[in-house]
Amino acid sequence: MAEADYMDLEHTGPGTLAGRYLRTFWQPVFRSKDLGPGRTSPIQILNEKLTLFRGEGGEAHLIAFRCAHRGSQLSVGWVEGDALHCRYHGWAYDGSGRCVEQPGEDEAFKDRVRIQSYPCEEYLGLIFAYLGEGSPPSLRRFEDFERPGVLEAGVPEIWPCNYFNRIDNDPAHVPFTHRESTLRTSGRLPGGARNLTAEETEFGVMSTVSSPGRPGFYVHFHMPNINQTRSVVRVEGSIEDARNLYVDRLFWRLPIDDDNCISYVVDLVPLTGEAGEAYRERRRQSEEAAGPSPNELAAAILRGDLRVEDVDPSISMYKLFWIEDYMTQVGQGSMAGRPPEHLARADATVSLKRRVWQRELKALSEGRPLKQWTDPPGLAAMNATTAG
Ligand code: FES
Ligand SMILES: [Fe+2]
Repeated sequence: MAEADYMDLEHTGPGTLAGRYLRTFWQPVFRSKDLGPGRTSPIQILNEKLTLFRGEGGEAHLIAFRCAHRGSQLSVGWVEGDALHCRYHGWAYDGSGRCVEQPGEDEAFKDRVRIQSYPCEEYLGLIFAYLGEGSPPSLRRFEDFERPGVLEAGVPEIWPCNYFNRIDNDPAHVPFTHRESTLRTSGRLPGGARNLTAEETEFGVMSTVSSPGRPGFYVHFHMPNINQTRSVVRVEGSIEDARNLYVDRLFWRLPIDDDNCISYVVDLVPLTGEAGEAYRERRRQSEEAAGPSPNELAAAILRGDLRVEDVDPSISMYKLFWIEDYMTQVGQGSMAGRPPEHLARADATVSLKRRVWQRELKALSEGRPLKQWTDPPGLAAMNATTAG
């Protein structure tokens, strides 16, 4: 195995080391609420095109992109019971990829036809799939997100950059990247540089961030591609929500292909009862607000057609953060395409994440055991519970 293979964190198609490694974990592939009973969707994840469908009984299934007969795209088919029928000639497949119907053919023929399928489970408002080899590990649980509160899977962020740009995002960027959103919420410029340390833990990498005169905080990265944060300011809803609430959040960063990625976001807001319902409604209105999408605005800024300072002041802080992060992370280009980096002290998290990833890829390439990560509860509580 050449060194370049396990140093390569960006390429994730089938057969690549990083792709094989990501496939050893359950990964989210869709928001549960976006796939009603009897509905289908084409998806692309880890450079693979697949078909997702939900049986009329409510179970989600993930099968191959194309029909085994003559290769038509299965997502344009229709669901009956717990099977998906190909639109071209009506062959039908169940969730395990078995062909269960072939109109006009000998009964025995269908028993010889099977397409790829992957196990699915639902958790925290997301559909997860296991795309790896062999029997899947049990689905990871995040007990911090099983507490009472408003649990919402946010709008997935689909960005035109490699997924590792998003994993590489560091806690040191906040006062600079999010300068405009901080100004809008507090009327003050954010503080300057922060001290940052990073250490490897049982779940991945923990960053400790401190700056003079402010409470320190922690950012937790669950290997291989999940950030856990307690966010203030970046809160979907009204500007008052952004000023007064905090959100515990999980982000999964996943490749669509090598140049595009998707982030699945799960928020837990500590409101219950009527206050929770009222917040849910403000959040829905904010998500559905008319106007250009955060991606359209961020792309206009990168083209030089707009300044972040001129983005509509009524936009939610959640969306403004999205725009600000997009500007910097999509703006980096690919690892291979950017000039040589100069990693500095504030890049402790970036360096450690890359080292841990490369160590695991090397172990995978040599057939050695991989580190078994565990996701302990209580990480959320390590951070202060008041906004500001
Ligand atoms: S291509 Fe699917 S049934 Fe013919
Ligand atoms: Fe950010």
